Amino acid sequence: MPRTVVYVLTCLLALASGYVDQNVRLDCYPDPGASRELCEQRGCVWDPEIDPDQNTVPLCYFPQGTGYSFDNGDDPSHVRLVKTVGSPRNPFDKDFETLTFSQSYLGATLNIKIFPSIPRYEPPVDLPRQASHSSDKLSVVLPSKPGNFSFTVRRQSTATDVWDTAIGGLLFGDKFIQIATYLASDKMYGWGENTHQTIKHDFSRYKTWGMWPRDQPPNSAQDNSMNLYGVHPFYMGLEPDGKAHGVLILNGNAQEVTTGPGPHIIYRTIGGLLDIYFFPGPSPGDVVQQYLALIGKPMLPAYWGLGYQLCRYGYKNFAEMKSVIERVQNAGIPLDVPYADIDFMDRYKDFTIDWDSDWKDFPAYVDKLHDEGLHLILIWDPAIQADYDPFKRAIDSNAKFIEWPREDLVPHDIQDKYPYAKDTKVMLGVVWPDRHVGFPDFLDPTNATHEWWINEFKLYRETIKFDGAWIDMNEPANFGTNVKHPWYFDNSDHPNDLPLMCPTFGPDADLDMPGYKTISVYQYPNTYLASKTLCMLAKTINGTHNFYDTKILYGWSESRSTQQAIHESTLQRGAVISRSTFPSSGRFAGHWLGDNYARWQDLRTAIIGVMEFNMFGIPYVGADICGFLGNTTEELCLRWQQLGAFHPFSRNHNTIGAIPQDPAAWPDVAQAAKKANLFRYRHLPYLFSLHFNASLVGSTVVRFPFFEFAQDTVTHTLDHQFMWGSAIMVIPVIYEGATTVRGYLPETSDGWYSLYDAEYGNNIEAGFHGFEAPTNYLIPVFVRGRHIIPRQLPETTTTASRKNPFELLIASAPNGKGGYEAFGDLFWDDGVTIVQSFDTHNYYDVSFAYAADSKGAKITVTVKKQASDVKLPALQYLEIFGYESVPNFDTFTVNGAAVAVDLQKSSYSPFTKVLKIYAKDIIPDGWTNNTIFKVQWTNQ
Ligand code: NOJ
Repeated sequence: MPRTVVYVLTCLLALASGYVDQNVRLDCYPDPGASRELCEQRGCVWDPEIDPDQNTVPLCYFPQGTGYSFDNGDDPSHVRLVKTVGSPRNPFDKDFETLTFSQSYLGATLNIKIFPSIPRYEPPVDLPRQASHSSDKLSVVLPSKPGNFSFTVRRQSTATDVWDTAIGGLLFGDKFIQIATYLASDKMYGWGENTHQTIKHDFSRYKTWGMWPRDQPPNSAQDNSMNLYGVHPFYMGLEPDGKAHGVLILNGNAQEVTTGPGPHIIYRTIGGLLDIYFFPGPSPGDVVQQYLALIGKPMLPAYWGLGYQLCRYGYKNFAEMKSVIERVQNAGIPLDVPYADIDFMDRYKDFTIDWDSDWKDFPAYVDKLHDEGLHLILIWDPAIQADYDPFKRAIDSNAKFIEWPREDLVPHDIQDKYPYAKDTKVMLGVVWPDRHVGFPDFLDPTNATHEWWINEFKLYRETIKFDGAWIDMNEPANFGTNVKHPWYFDNSDHPNDLPLMCPTFGPDADLDMPGYKTISVYQYPNTYLASKTLCMLAKTINGTHNFYDTKILYGWSESRSTQQAIHESTLQRGAVISRSTFPSSGRFAGHWLGDNYARWQDLRTAIIGVMEFNMFGIPYVGADICGFLGNTTEELCLRWQQLGAFHPFSRNHNTIGAIPQDPAAWPDVAQAAKKANLFRYRHLPYLFSLHFNASLVGSTVVRFPFFEFAQDTVTHTLDHQFMWGSAIMVIPVIYEGATTVRGYLPETSDGWYSLYDAEYGNNIEAGFHGFEAPTNYLIPVFVRGRHIIPRQLPETTTTASRKNPFELLIASAPNGKGGYEAFGDLFWDDGVTIVQSFDTHNYYDVSFAYAADSKGAKITVTVKKQASDVKLPALQYLEIFGYESVPNFDTFTVNGAAVAVDLQKSSYSPFTKVLKIYAKDIIPDGWTNNTIFKVQWTNQ
């Protein structure tokens, strides 16, 4: 038979059987237990004949033509879809027969919604939803002929399809919704919160990532797709030409995404609707800005919040905490924020202090820390023990808790032990405290819960002067749900409180046992959606919603109330970090990457996690330095201190029972931490300006290198280096025993200069290098040409550093006309005032422009906005990299007036081309005598 005939016959056969190539399949059995028989009962295709190297290929898959159809002639902004006749049924629920597909724009952001005619749950997050801007556009293209429905999202400038749902598989039932699409490329970054081993997703095989908040330590040692503490259904895609787009699926239910070799994705959720936002970029930074216009820009932490922070769980007593702080201070290591974990509380109850122990001296010590310019962050768990004053005040003030839906479901063997809870439906669980706890409902629309929480913070601050809040366990975590013999029964520090049991069969099990439970249940043996948390049938939002729908927002809503509580109790900006997050959490809080392990693998994934959370709009983020779980090693801790000095949120944190790991525990780690932290503190004006700009316009602080060099494809897979803004490249040491590190400097006409011990100030060629990195050097850090970095001489607290004179680091680059140039900015405020609105906030916005040629150089400092009551310390020092001529210091002027250069402290090297100019008042204190300062000199 001729080949064409064979081909046509094969195709016909494939069509009849619904055969789909193994690279573009949509799994019809994502739940466990697939077999031919069960697969065929679902109307799907069973094909065990897969390529043996591809053991992730679904054996049971949806046949072609699964989905919905449409009629021509509809208004394209509202298309009516009808379940395709003969399409397999939804395996987990009854599909809605008809759906609406709508499209609209929020500025440049395209919003596609798919929903049935009855109202559906949408997460009640009050997003700012500002219109975005772009130089490009994404448009929807609908099929020209009636029939199977699919759509493409097409970039106008290049006709690239960033989504093409012709792959089929649209399903929409009450508790199972699925949409699938081909992608423009396999360059996909994001989705969270999961541990990613690489920045780019791996499309060579099928992999499903869970998104359902869980008290789940990340495991970086083994490849896995576990859902961690928060949920971020957002990704960025890079198209073949390096243009970037972003996609958010705004959904508040348990959900997951499968990546497949198509390259394609299958998104599944078990509630709500499909509310999808497409951000056109075209640069990665544009995408984030467009995303944050929708969900909200990040909060600005207090300046001190950028200082180094030191914490541990399991200080034996207050004396131990004090001695660790003192040893770190005595080693000269910059430190701004010591913490106490739950140990200082009376039996782990929020808003208490263990007065019967030496922790009674803690509040007075905090006053002393304040006098030294340090600040305190304390921990809060959301769960409140049901038998003490804060709980009573909550009940008395009508604050709401997560509740049982009906009185007859309340387990009275637990409830009746607690007089304050006895006559309520508060769902009691077990966390750290000795007795049962209730979980405040921060989504309570009456505001009573919010007000009660704020009031508790105010009352508590009369006892101890905290400055910031660390909100933990807010997935929310509950110990032992649905477990007959929970772990804590065998823990000496925990009484045997009866665990929470949710209905798992019968008419009340509807929400706890839905047809599809997502990989976040299937990947852990014997678990439920309610495992480690509360029952899905619980009621929230004043009895109007099911916890099934709102659990995902618990950390988000607690962050919102806690930011307000910190503002009202301290009357300052402070800082909040939250374990559980959701899109727009960054408006209220930062994040730490959870209970990592003291392992090299965890150091590596932390680099990726920090970049991802910046992309999610939560730039104030970091991992527990030196690793939380398990015992760290001296070398790991040293390397982690060096890396962690570049995390926006820079905190060393350790678990109970592990060996001490404060940086002063080993002399060499102390030296390395001191050096790294001093570098950080010297560059805080730049780091703070990045945070300020992120809050002002929606940018990132730490960036994937591809954000700056999207055209350089090497950057698309650089997993272990990152940038501070657009100017600084950090290449950490990530392997045990290494004294060099392989790193990449992207091709750019800007050029790069070393900012660390090896070849400081020298121009470094682009490309791959094996950089010197002995433990007594800073890790390799480079500054990009054409950039100006404001900095200050460092001290051991940010409070003291802030008062030091300013310096400018100028990394020059050819201007294309035979000269050189560089530019930069500085944002500055008092560091503590609450930002109500940037329109009224009191801050400096200063820009710097540098121009040089063979005759001389000029720096123009423009004070674009000046703050009253805040003084900028004098500018006294300039350090210029790439200065080509010998300067004449005698010609130095500012706004035409001669200024004496201190020749002792100034120098020029024709070899390294580093020029250093020191003068007492290049710009005097305050920067107020002018709005433009022209600093000039000529060459010899
Ligand atoms: C879990 C948190 O993730 C961890 O950082 C903390 O130390 C413990 N809870 C104890 O509070």
